[in-house]
This record gives sequence, C-alpha cells and structure tokens, in this order.
Amino acid sequence: MNQPSVEHLYVITVTTRGIGKALAASALAVPNSFVVSLSRTAPFLWNNRQNIRIDLNDTDRIGPAFKRIQIGLRQTSRLTHTVLINNAGVLDPIAPIGDCDDTLLARNIQVNLTAPLILAHHFFHFSRPFPGRKWIVNITSGASRAPYYGWSAYGAAKAGLDMATRAMAMEFSRIDPTFAVCAVAPGTVDTAMQEKIRNCTVQQFAQVDKFLELKNSGALHPPERAATALIRLLMDGQFKNGERYDLRELRQ
Ligand SMILES: NC(=O)c1ccc[n+]([C@@H]2O[C@H](COP(=O)([O-])OP(=O)(O)OC[C@H]3O[C@@H](n4cnc5c(N)ncnc54)[C@H](OP(=O)(O)O)[C@@H]3O)[C@@H](O)[C@H]2O)c1
Repeated sequence: MNQPSVEHLYVITVTTRGIGKALAASALAVPNSFVVSLSRTAPFLWNNRQNIRIDLNDTDRIGPAFKRIQIGLRQTSRLTHTVLINNAGVLDPIAPIGDCDDTLLARNIQVNLTAPLILAHHFFHFSRPFPGRKWIVNITSGASRAPYYGWSAYGAAKAGLDMATRAMAMEFSRIDPTFAVCAVAPGTVDTAMQEKIRNCTVQQFAQVDKFLELKNSGALHPPERAATALIRLLMDGQFKNGERYDLRELRQ
C-alpha cells in the first residue's frame, strides 16, 4: 500500500462475486479506505486494493498471506479502523448425511469455520500494533440457528462460527478492548449460493420449494443492499462486541 492517507483498512475474504464483491465496492466508497482481498481468483481491478490469491481450504497459507499485507503496508500510523470480514462461504455438500462426499464435508468445515478462526488469529497479531479500532465481522447465516434438511455441515459450521464470535468477544474485552467481533447474518441475498440452492433436488434439499418461491416473489435482496447495510453498521459506531446482527433488521 503506498497511500499515505489510508485510514480504513478492510481485509475481506473473497471479493470476486456475491456479497464479497459488493462489500469491496461499498468499502472502497468510504473516503481514505483500502481493501485487501483474499480470493482464490483475481477480482476486478480497482484502485486502492491489493489482491492476495488464496484457497481458504489451504489454511497453512493464511499466516503467510497476512505477512504479505504487512510487506505492502508502508503507512499505518493514520489507521483509525482495521476490519477483517470473514465473508467466504461454501454450502456443499447439500445432501442428507448418508449421501455426502467425505472431501466436501471436510472442506465445508475448513472454509466456513476453521479458516475464519485462523484468519482471526492472524488478524489479531497483524493489526494489534495499529492505532484505532480493530473489528472482525463473521458472516453467519440463519442456518446457524435453525436446522435445514441437507445442510448439516453448513449449519454446524455457521453455528460454530456464532459461538466462536461470542468466545472471542469475551477474550477481546479482557485482553485488548480496541478489538471487537460480531456475527452478521445477511438475510436471503441474490447470489450464486441461492442459485445453487434452487438447483437442488428435493432429495438433496427438502426445503427447495421455499427458496424457489423466494426468488419468484422477488423476496431476495440484492448483494449491494446487504453490503451497504454492513458497511454503514461499521461506520456509524453501533457495532457492539459479541453481538449477532441480522442485516434485514438494519436495512432501511
Ligand atoms: N446468499 C445468501 O442468501 C446468504 C445467506 C446467509 C449467509 N450467506 C453467507 O454470505 C457469505 C457470502 O456468500 P454469497 O451469498 O456471496 O455466496 P457466493 O456468491 O457463492 O460467494 C461465496 C464466495 O466464497 C468463496 N469461496 C468458497 N470456497 C472458497 C475457498 N475454498 N477459498 C476461497 N474462497 C472460497 C467463493 O469464491 P470463488 O468466487 O473463488 O468461487 C465465493 O466468492 C457466505 O459466508 C455465506 O455463507 C449468504
């Protein structure tokens, strides 16, 4: 980063599509912001951003990725706000447990739960020397609270992420109150993940009709609306350590 006036640093997992892409656009609209994208493919080119290629299934690469951000950081003394958004997520395997592929099951927990924890660990050490607030946002789901037929791994990983959020909040308040963490459920957002759900058979996912109806009735939210609501939450100072937010309740 060679921008002397950067005040807001956003590290976002995956900005190539869906909610992550909209989040990067909203974050870059914040004056004096810089976005670091951790994505397995190169996203669209924008100014004020760095892309680090990483497959989050390969968790050994997360620590070295943060070292690369440090190498890129030339000016950190003016940072008032450093944010990690654990956005990347994977739904597969979508099937009752007896029909699931071993590799997909392991990858689901790795990407949805293990990687965000390892990212939080490295973000803590990376950002601790910086002035200002350091916040972690874990993107969760309604599936962390209610069981969905065929989503056992996804629901378990998101429920685990909710609990990790609460435990980290307790730790931060004691160890370093300049840190805070929250879980954010984006609601039903019109992305490739929803398309994948609608393409399931009833055998894979018993509630598929409900999701077809959400699309057909226009009830899915555009990713830009979810992203704007989240960045507004981060900017307006309402962010409470350990809280679980539902973006549907925050949108205007
Ligand atoms: N859409 C919804 O209705 C909804 C509802 C509740 C929660 N969420 C959550 O919102 C977040 C964003 O999802 P979305 O709706 O934007 O879905 P999406 O369009 O499918 O995006 C998911 C992103 O995760 C990335 N990803 C998956 N596996 C990865 C891996 N191994 N390494 C690196 N990146 C990986 C994908 O990267 P590639 O682009 O490289 O494939 C993709 O960009 C997820 O955490 C999801 O669980 C979404």
